[in-house]
Amino acid sequence: MSTIKLLFLFTFFSSLILGYGDGISGKYPIVVSTWPFVEAVRAAWRAVDAGFSAVDAVVEGCSACEDLRCDGTVGPGGSPDENGETTIDALIMNGVTMEIGAVAAMRYVKDGIRAARLVMEHTKHTLLVGEKASAFAIAMGLPGPSNLSSTESIEMWNKWKENGCQPNFWKNVIPLNGCGPYRPKSANGFSEGGYSKANLMGVIESRSSHFGLHSHDTISMAVIDKMGHVAVGTSTNGATFKIPGRVGDGPIAGSSSYADDGVGACGATGDGDIMMRFLPCYQVVESMRLGMEPKLAAKDAISRIARKFPDFVGAVVAVNKNGVHAGACHGWTFQYSVRTLEMEDVEVFTVLP
Ligand code: GLY
Repeated sequence: MSTIKLLFLFTFFSSLILGYGDGISGKYPIVVSTWPFVEAVRAAWRAVDAGFSAVDAVVEGCSACEDLRCDGTVGPGGSPDENGETTIDALIMNGVTMEIGAVAAMRYVKDGIRAARLVMEHTKHTLLVGEKASAFAIAMGLPGPSNLSSTESIEMWNKWKENGCQPNFWKNVIPLNGCGPYRPKSANGFSEGGYSKANLMGVIESRSSHFGLHSHDTISMAVIDKMGHVAVGTSTNGATFKIPGRVGDGPIAGSSSYADDGVGACGATGDGDIMMRFLPCYQVVESMRLGMEPKLAAKDAISRIARKFPDFVGAVVAVNKNGVHAGACHGWTFQYSVRTLEMEDVEVFTVLP
């Protein structure tokens, strides 16, 4: 047997015994998540440390965040839309098979990441939306239909109505009296219905008011398991006071998260309406495939967005197959959480814009 073959066999078997996916790094397993969602990372860590797969760990982690209603922006009870309703966007991706399951604007079912997994594992589709996603999830055994509103979300919505439905996500429209219904504004500033310019009320606050500097908006989690397999997941209840039917970046593969077993993974958070136009996580993973270190890949993806939308608020976190992780952000200070074998507990990293 040639030396090269012997070396290959040694590397292969030692990687299995030591739990290193590629025989080079001693950094598996690893869990990385947006924001200081420490309990979510602990839940994922318990799963992956016990030998469960990266997909299992992502589900455990994101599901813990949904149950805890992390920051009111994950799971039920937060981010009411213009009708006061909470809906769920979620995605899971298996970096081994490149299979994806996702649900968007899902009503009445709180378990976003579990619903996404059911789509991935029991259908040949990638994305189910709205009430049809809810019906699918319930038929497949998830609890529901449930009211996803909470006292807090209803209170938030009532205050927004009292404030003339400001801020909102409309532009170039004329509302009847602050709130809708809205009509498109014509080029001369008048609608066909003849509302005057004095009635114009579009978005009067910047987009960052929807993605507050102090409110985190999404869990995006990447896991590399003991076998070196990679998975990612995202769960969010989206943007506060969104127009009903709006879907954010959460269930869009390559935008909120992306994974490739041979390369690594990425998770994103922030203004999904802007971010999904750039598929930042696809960009990060592809840059890492070409040899970029996670830090540079993350910075590059964020700066591509910032060049076109200097006011956007968002961040990405990247991890490569060697367990090297890094984040980059724009418009806010970003934090992400990590757990590895070398850490006694979850550690939180801070990234300045
Ligand atoms: N990043 C969450 C959203 O925009 O819906």
